[in-house]
Amino acid sequence: MIKKWWHTSVIYQIYPKSFKAGRPDTSIGDLKGVIQKLDYIKRLGADVIWLCPVYQSPQIDNGYDISDYYSISPEYGTMEDFEQLIEACKNRGIRLIMDLVVNHTSDQHHWFQQALQAKDNPFRDYYIWRDPIKGGVPNELQSNFGGAAWKWHAETDQYYLHFYSDAQPDLNWSNQKLRHDIYDMMNFWIDKGVSGFRMDVIDLIGKDPDHQIKENGPMLHPYLQEMYEHTFGSHDLLTVGETWGATPENAPLYSDPERQELSMVFQFEHLQLDKIPGKQRWDVQPLVLTELKRVLNTWQTALHSNGWNSLFWNNHDLPRIVSRWGNDQEFRVESAKMLATLLHGMQGTPYIYQGEEIGMTNAAYASLADYKDIETQNIYRERIKKGFSHEQTMAAIRLKARDNARTPMQWNRDRHAGFSDATPWMKLNENHEDINVEQALHDPDSIFYHYQALIALRKKHDVLVYGSFRLILEQHEQVFAYERHFQGKTLVVVCNFYEQPVSIVFPGAEKRIILSSNYKDSSVELEDVYLRPYEAIMYLEKRGESGNED
Ligand code: GLC
Repeated sequence: MIKKWWHTSVIYQIYPKSFKAGRPDTSIGDLKGVIQKLDYIKRLGADVIWLCPVYQSPQIDNGYDISDYYSISPEYGTMEDFEQLIEACKNRGIRLIMDLVVNHTSDQHHWFQQALQAKDNPFRDYYIWRDPIKGGVPNELQSNFGGAAWKWHAETDQYYLHFYSDAQPDLNWSNQKLRHDIYDMMNFWIDKGVSGFRMDVIDLIGKDPDHQIKENGPMLHPYLQEMYEHTFGSHDLLTVGETWGATPENAPLYSDPERQELSMVFQFEHLQLDKIPGKQRWDVQPLVLTELKRVLNTWQTALHSNGWNSLFWNNHDLPRIVSRWGNDQEFRVESAKMLATLLHGMQGTPYIYQGEEIGMTNAAYASLADYKDIETQNIYRERIKKGFSHEQTMAAIRLKARDNARTPMQWNRDRHAGFSDATPWMKLNENHEDINVEQALHDPDSIFYHYQALIALRKKHDVLVYGSFRLILEQHEQVFAYERHFQGKTLVVVCNFYEQPVSIVFPGAEKRIILSSNYKDSSVELEDVYLRPYEAIMYLEKRGESGNED
């Protein structure tokens, strides 16, 4: 495998609106706030920042509705602030990747405003328009935010397509001029010094709406290869596609270096295991650990030599992992560290979503009004219409709403948790007095320092980066354990995924050196290993006299 800088990187994701208000008397996070906190990210050890959209936007979907790709939204600052941010990152050896949202624009984008004018406007074909069929929608395509994916435009007697809100019309990638306008825009940001792109819902760009094909459409890969050729292909950048439709079979199509497409994709198979198959993510079922093992094992093995994995539990669209599959009460610290160990021991590039490193928990607000996300509000209406009760719907929202991860970052115990001077745009999580960065930095046993240590291990041990993956105790219903092998070295990760203690038998005692653990006195000396609630141990197998420490 040809070595790439992003093989050893750890990425920190910033959702700017909720990260840090750097300007006085503002209620939302901004670019100045990001600059103020770069030393914190550096201290954690992450060396890449993925910045969620900061482009000009009416903020219907918090910036995933872009009205001008070439300017910064005033609530986040100015282009000078952005340039300062790039500079400040460079000074600290941190790279920055931008969010690239090119499946759709805002309806306020001048392309769409032009397109609305007339059927023969040159920009009309930048979007996807269809005549009504039998007086109604062209077909049954549904929006991911609930309801039909077609919106009627009375003035021009046609429907336009929107896979997200109707304020986010889908772009027509079959239009060559549109594609080249996008490539020009990408080159503008590359020239500004960004180190790559996270590509929003990129598996949708090859869509074939007439055959109701959303993801993985026939033209998807030709478009990505064309994009590579015209933009990042001649630079050494990191590109990661958000691909809800990725499978172990098709993921190498994106990330096999020979195909010249992307560095890696985000796949979501493991994060959909607590959803009833064939239903919406609001229809929740318990996670079965052996299923999680099966899925992650498949991905680790499938992409070992002809692709690259992204490793993540969290992002701005997912509930907090410690509340979801850990224990956000009595064992919050232990379970957050266990989940971190499990993930950071695998092969791929780890992503840490702001607040994950201090074990921030789900918002779990009582009232619907506190949930700001357009998706939550739409889904609430849709579920009530479908016959679910208010309580059932709110329970699902408390578990799965995207807002769970969007509460303002908890910096300290002060008023507004040190996030802003003014009342934050979104209600803080009530636990900010106990869970915050200041507390984490003061406590040598905090989740923060556990993440810091895991990141440092990845930088030190090649086996963590390049080692092959082998699941052990495959059928065990409570313990997630695996080995990594590289150049004669063996690294082992053993995690008790639950609160109940458990004993396991590992042959080959007295040959183990612990690299990481979430209990002070963990032991793997004996063949019988006893694991306490959520205990997670990472160790090297010592071989022969000289040992095999890296
Ligand atoms: C992606 C983003 C999400 C956004 C959607 C539409 O899934 O991560 O936040 O709402 O795309 O752009």
